[in-house]
Amino acid sequence: MKGIILAGGTGSRLYPLTKVTNKHLLPIYNEPMIYYPLQTLINMGIKEIMIVSGRGHAGDFLELLGSGKKFGITLNYAIQEEAGGIAQALSLTEDFSDRENIAVILGDNIYEDSFDISDFKGGARIFLKEVSTPERFGVAEINNGKVISIEEKPAKPRTNLAVTGLYLYDNKVYDYISRLKPSHRGELEITDVNNRYIKDNEMDFQYVKGFWSDAGTFESLHRASTWKKIKEEQNED
Ligand code: G1P
Repeated sequence: MKGIILAGGTGSRLYPLTKVTNKHLLPIYNEPMIYYPLQTLINMGIKEIMIVSGRGHAGDFLELLGSGKKFGITLNYAIQEEAGGIAQALSLTEDFSDRENIAVILGDNIYEDSFDISDFKGGARIFLKEVSTPERFGVAEINNGKVISIEEKPAKPRTNLAVTGLYLYDNKVYDYISRLKPSHRGELEITDVNNRYIKDNEMDFQYVKGFWSDAGTFESLHRASTWKKIKEEQNED
């Protein structure tokens, strides 16, 4: 299984913090944001990881993380020339995937859990977490232990189950992305990819048990930092 961290986007919701610094390099308490998704993939046992970033900041990622040697992994880099959505960024990783299954994580998603994914053989998997503000996320509906739909940021969510920013896919994902049409906001949406797997009855899910937050808004960035601070203090005791 190969790993992919998607670290593009302009971080406009965090302006002016993101005026000169890439969102994924901002601190979550005592570490740069991108360390967290990187560690999540490493904890899954993944050894080869590609980071997809926008044009302006690729050099910063390289400077911070280098070859990956100090983390015991190999890092590769790809550039998303212009913002076109999560699925468009993912399409740049097809050659890197080398037809293996892939674990994709959004660079601003902070997980406490270490996930055991050894039972994943193919199709797709999403990771769900109950939240109090589902309208900010992709929202999943479950029936009889199966995911039956995902709605992207619905005004009236049917459940409070957020689709978090971690996904497992087999290699069909690249074919599905190539057939996608841009959404009303002009992007290739990961939710459309996931709904395609649901339609083919090839989607399963795992629950996120520990802390999870995105970190793309002032409030969620602060929440993630506070969680990490408390965790560090507990480790000192
Ligand atoms: C993206 C996805 C959304 C998911 C979220 C998790 O949204 O489109 O389905 O719930 O990440 O962080 P974004 O935060 O990029 O708008």
